[in-house]
Amino acid sequence: MHQSIPMVDLKAQYERLRPFIDAEIARVIESAHFIRGPIVGEFECELAAFLDVPYVLGVANGTDALQVAMMALGIGPGDEVITPSFTFVATAEAARVLGATPVFVDVDHDTFNLDPTKLEQHITPRTKAIIPVHLFGQAAPLKEITAIGSKHGIPVIEDMAQAIGARCEGKHVGSFGDVGTISFFPSKNLGAYGDAGAVVTGSLELYERMKMIASHGSRKKYYNEIIGVNSRLDSLQAAILKAKLPYLEQFNSERAAAASRYDQMLEDLEDLDVIVPRRAPGCTHVFHQYTIRVRGGSQLRSELQAELKREGISTAVYYPKGLHQLPVNSDVEIPEGSLSVTETLVDEVLSLPIYPEISEKDQQRVVDALARAMKSLADENAVGSRA
Ligand SMILES: Cc1ncc(COP(=O)(O)O)c(C=O)c1O
Repeated sequence: MHQSIPMVDLKAQYERLRPFIDAEIARVIESAHFIRGPIVGEFECELAAFLDVPYVLGVANGTDALQVAMMALGIGPGDEVITPSFTFVATAEAARVLGATPVFVDVDHDTFNLDPTKLEQHITPRTKAIIPVHLFGQAAPLKEITAIGSKHGIPVIEDMAQAIGARCEGKHVGSFGDVGTISFFPSKNLGAYGDAGAVVTGSLELYERMKMIASHGSRKKYYNEIIGVNSRLDSLQAAILKAKLPYLEQFNSERAAAASRYDQMLEDLEDLDVIVPRRAPGCTHVFHQYTIRVRGGSQLRSELQAELKREGISTAVYYPKGLHQLPVNSDVEIPEGSLSVTETLVDEVLSLPIYPEISEKDQQRVVDALARAMKSLADENAVGSRA
């Protein structure tokens, strides 16, 4: 019996970095500075240097990062916030928590990212932010999006939860918009061992405002000036992230190498209606996910997943619904047919196991199992249609 192949293998990464991670954790425990200890500032400075951005503020998670950024931009009831319809719920959720309305823009078939050609038509006098999401690790078309933002005087928040280390024309994502928001959820390319996040910005004014908001709306202890939240990056998480950061580039290139191997291995399956992820020109992809498209509908996809599971191979569907299709957003008005790409993708996407340590042998097992399952399901369907 083969060993199972998970979507992500966090233990393998820990084994590679164990002495560094353990040493940083021990340093925090010995110092007993668990909340905003010096290590948080050290990590924020190191991350700012890595991303080549002036300011980084650690917060409690990636969803808070979005909310804190929106609060700092003064977003509230009556405002509209533009987000892609094909993404994780957090962008729309943070807008709604603040009483703002999410406005969904369709994505590009090939890159899964916000389609800039469909953006401008959604801008109204109420639009207070545009939030591109660098989905699955592929940098979104930032030049086009920030140009539209500047033309209309609308701030851009880059949700870079899945794409730390990705670049557009040589510059890191997160350094194009007014704010970049990061999640260090354990499975992310730079993952903590619990919840953690950050905001990054080039504006001192926004940095100071976000810092105040994330500290109960206060700059001085027990002197609260505005409504804020409690959102801190804790010292133990900062220790783990600090130990891992120097290896992020290496891990990202190992992910990209694994993705290229999948591309080659999957070449023959293109005839069976499997489409490998495309890369956007001028921007890099750090492969948080390796997401293929399988033509044939969500039923076929579920059957494929079940077949792979029987062989011990994990797969995942990110995401089975567009944000506009979720019950929580059923009150958001959507012009008929305006999100058709998202509605197709949610039935086609299938993410395969990817992590820096995945071996070529395991990838071949994934692809062989996928090929067998595709063929047997195609044969079954052929027999079924003859019967
Ligand atoms: C695109 C995107 N945005 C935001 C988030 C939210 O991050 P967190 O889980 O740290 O709150 C995630 C993470 O899961 C994400 O993938």
